[in-house]
Amino acid sequence: MGTAEKQKELVDTAFWKQSQIMVLRQELAGKDFRKDYEQACLFVISKLEELNKELSNRLDRNIIDSMEWRVKSPESCISKLYTKGRELSLDGAVNRLNDIAGVRVVCNFLDDMYVVCGRLVKDPDFEFIKQKDYIKNPKSSGYQSLHLILRVLLPDGRKVKTEIQCRTKAMDLWSDMEHHFIYKKEGIHEDDTEQALRKCAKAIFKIDKEMMNIRRKMESR
Ligand code: GTP
Ligand code: MG
Repeated sequence: MGTAEKQKELVDTAFWKQSQIMVLRQELAGKDFRKDYEQACLFVISKLEELNKELSNRLDRNIIDSMEWRVKSPESCISKLYTKGRELSLDGAVNRLNDIAGVRVVCNFLDDMYVVCGRLVKDPDFEFIKQKDYIKNPKSSGYQSLHLILRVLLPDGRKVKTEIQCRTKAMDLWSDMEHHFIYKKEGIHEDDTEQALRKCAKAIFKIDKEMMNIRRKMESR
């Protein structure tokens, strides 16, 4: 193939990719598409509210401190598919992305987190897909949380994959800070920052355990 032909092929491929991305962006922004994921998030939130009421009454302390949810933006979905080398299509997004629907649950104590997640896993309205325990096995960044991937059964029978991130308040602070510092790292020596953050993550785990032990001691009196 001559240079001109090669250049033409490159440009054609780039155009084709670009139009493929534009179509996908529109599909991912579609109201009906997003509504399913929104419904799944809200269903998980309502289950968690119920669970929080029941457990907080029984254990006489607040179990869940806060909850938030979001449906991943079309841009974020495309960039994740792209960086992971997945097919840039709606099927690719639905099948390959676990966190288009995402719920975050923040608990006060380490053991409460496992109680909450244990209950979600057993709930017949959810189908368990997988669990990633980044507390037992923290990420190399130091990141700690318990992730569940569940299939939520919507009232009309459809199933929607949802990621639930469960963490303590201290882990949540760490995660927010790390996100902030890694995103705005210009001018900071990356290795130093990363090392300092890993140190903080370890300290946080120690504090989380100590706080839980203090509570247990108080409860046994
Ligand atoms: P992504 O990390 O989302 O690309 O997908 P994954 O399929 O590899 O899942 P993983 O369980 O590793 O991460 C899912 C989510 O956890 C991310 O989207 C973040 O919200 C969060 N997360 C994972 N690792 C880190 C980390 O090192 N720092 C922070 N702040 N959050 C993280
Ligand atoms: Mg994510």
